[in-house]
Amino acid sequence: MAKLEAASDVDLYVGSSAISREELLRRVKGVDAIVCLLTEAIDAAVLDAAGPQLRIVANVAVGYNNVDVAACRARGIAVTNTPDVLTNACADFTWGLILTITRRLGEGERVVRAGKWGGWALDYMLGMELRGKQLGLVGVGRIGGAVAAKAPAFGMTVAYADQKVADISDATQMPLDRLLATSDIVSLHVPMTPETKHLIDQKALTKMKRTAYLINTSRGPVVDEAALAWALKERLIAGAALDVYEKEPEIHRDLMSLENVLLIPHLASATTETRTAMADLAVSNAIAVLDGRPPVTPVP
Ligand code: GLV
Repeated sequence: MAKLEAASDVDLYVGSSAISREELLRRVKGVDAIVCLLTEAIDAAVLDAAGPQLRIVANVAVGYNNVDVAACRARGIAVTNTPDVLTNACADFTWGLILTITRRLGEGERVVRAGKWGGWALDYMLGMELRGKQLGLVGVGRIGGAVAAKAPAFGMTVAYADQKVADISDATQMPLDRLLATSDIVSLHVPMTPETKHLIDQKALTKMKRTAYLINTSRGPVVDEAALAWALKERLIAGAALDVYEKEPEIHRDLMSLENVLLIPHLASATTETRTAMADLAVSNAIAVLDGRPPVTPVP
């Protein structure tokens, strides 16, 4: 805020939840820069409401599916995101989800808090060991690559499905179908685009091993939530750990009652260090463009 205030007048929205659409449309009028969160849809209507002086939309997130990039480009408005600064936090977090779901930590904690733990038993709440298993990454950009880099620490082999060949040692590139059929953990690291919407649908889920787990830290709509709830209920896969949802903050009601799914409220980048760095980068982007310099991290 200090950096922004030194560079320009600032209209700061403060609220316990995301700004309403009406308020957003009203408050963007006449601004030169918008620093926004993934909870705001920055579409043509918002750009029109802002006016022709708008020069940059600086998203405080690496994913930018909430911004209509084509509409911005058509108006000569720069769009930036916050890559790199959140890679490590998101990769650590992905491993947190993998360990939590395979070792049933969420389920275990629910039992303890409900006062239902009857004591240690040899065969109680057994999970799956990671050593010797295959981690299948769908998408190996910065975050997928960082997740892969930590796999040897857990004794896992890495497979990936991506259009490009990744620079990851000892990782096997394979088509998505084969990856789904052979992986013990399938972790999604693709951006949200029309091509990746419901990439993991009923058909994809039926290809997975019954003993496998699905991890989603990308964007909710990459997974068909209703199909996932069905697959989990039918035990077609062993479990899922989700950080993102199709209609955040809503979660498909069938998922809420299942024990074999871990439901986390979109926290992958949520460390003090990373969120500070993300905000700082978005501010640097806005200031650069307001000063007539190129943005630091324009979206590709
Ligand atoms: C968070 O989901 C991000 O895209 O940064």
